[in-house]
Amino acid sequence: SIAMRQDILELIGGLPSEEQGILEAVRDTAQEEECSVYLVGGFVRDLLLSFPTQDLDFVVEGNGGQFAQALMKRLPEGKLTQHVKFGTAHISFPNGSHLDVASTRVEYYSFPGALPQVEESCLRDDLFRRDFTINSMAICLNSEHFGELVDYYGGKRDLQQGKIRFLHNLSFIEDPTRMLRAVRFARRYNFKLAKETLEALFTAIETGVLLKLSVERFTEELFVIFQEDNYISMGQTLIRSGLFQGWFGEDYSWNFSEDDVQESVGWPLDQRWLSCISRINSEDIEKLCGRLSLNKTLRDETQIFLHLRAVLPKTQSISELDQLISKAPQGVIAVLAQDEHFRPRIMDCLESEKRIRMTLDGKKLLQMGVKEGPIIGEILEQVRRAWLEGKIHSTEEEREVAQQLIESMCRRR
Ligand code: CTP
Repeated sequence: SIAMRQDILELIGGLPSEEQGILEAVRDTAQEEECSVYLVGGFVRDLLLSFPTQDLDFVVEGNGGQFAQALMKRLPEGKLTQHVKFGTAHISFPNGSHLDVASTRVEYYSFPGALPQVEESCLRDDLFRRDFTINSMAICLNSEHFGELVDYYGGKRDLQQGKIRFLHNLSFIEDPTRMLRAVRFARRYNFKLAKETLEALFTAIETGVLLKLSVERFTEELFVIFQEDNYISMGQTLIRSGLFQGWFGEDYSWNFSEDDVQESVGWPLDQRWLSCISRINSEDIEKLCGRLSLNKTLRDETQIFLHLRAVLPKTQSISELDQLISKAPQGVIAVLAQDEHFRPRIMDCLESEKRIRMTLDGKKLLQMGVKEGPIIGEILEQVRRAWLEGKIHSTEEEREVAQQLIESMCRRR
């Protein structure tokens, strides 16, 4: 059985030394500030599962802002950002890691200059506001109780039984992104949704709860999924559960293919995205993009993908193909090459591109007496083409071809 205090101390002992250092700094600051402080949320869950842990999240019972400030004395490398309005603080470190401090006590001002209103709650309430039982556990960091698990809602049991269970019936209505999170955690840990949670998920889908979500938040949550190792099986579940249809309004022929599971681990985000829409017709891709707020890179790459997919069948010569391919982002080419209609010609073209060992550039052309202007680009383009088509094999030949081009082109003008 996990989560006896001794076990937790051992798990903490196995963390990287920087993280252990932070936990000790938190412990000592709590002593100094005389408040209770806990490690909470996903970090506790992953620690207990011996799963790679991510960001450190703390909850202070007391004044979180003051605590964060005091903590900084022990973490001189950190950079502190306070969000006074939410009673939270964020500390980031030069190595890119960071931690968050939240407080069960939030002070706010009804109008500028007013006396602060204090909203006081406690850890139990804070944990109850969370999504699933497995995310609602805390570990006490105060010296006398360091390493003790706080588990009000049966998180440890659900971790052991592999269950994703919400804390209350209104959970998905309160925050519909939790529907996507449920799928993500279930597939990430190979857990099942508890009966009532599963039923509530289906009810929420049927009653259109998802549609209360903004396009931005849905997109953000979806792309968190795209970054998971298991995103393919998560995608399949999003389709099977009806969640995708609930959001997009239609059943598109998404490509979350079992065949890609192995390779896709190393795929960058854009390639994952393009691959999953690669079997959908262009009109539908435009429609579904209208239901997402893609970032500029993904938007642009999607357009390039659509364009290439349309023109490639009409492209005959290797140099035309090269013109299209050499300028396109790698992710786009990789996904097009997954299609057996395109693969041989794309491979062929990439192979031919390897022959190109251009040494000529604009500066050299100027030295050879060419005047500045568009003609430079034209000559370079033609020389590249000659390499590609196997008409040039060496630097000497390259120079000869360039010389001929200069003469004929300059004569023409
Ligand atoms: N949380 C929640 N509802 C959400 C998002 C988050 O209740 N819609 C709570 C959960 O308790 C979660 C914590 O906030 O544990 C931190 O959220 P986040 O960092 O997004 O998730 P993690 O659980 O840390 O998951 P991951 O491993 O994906 O980072």
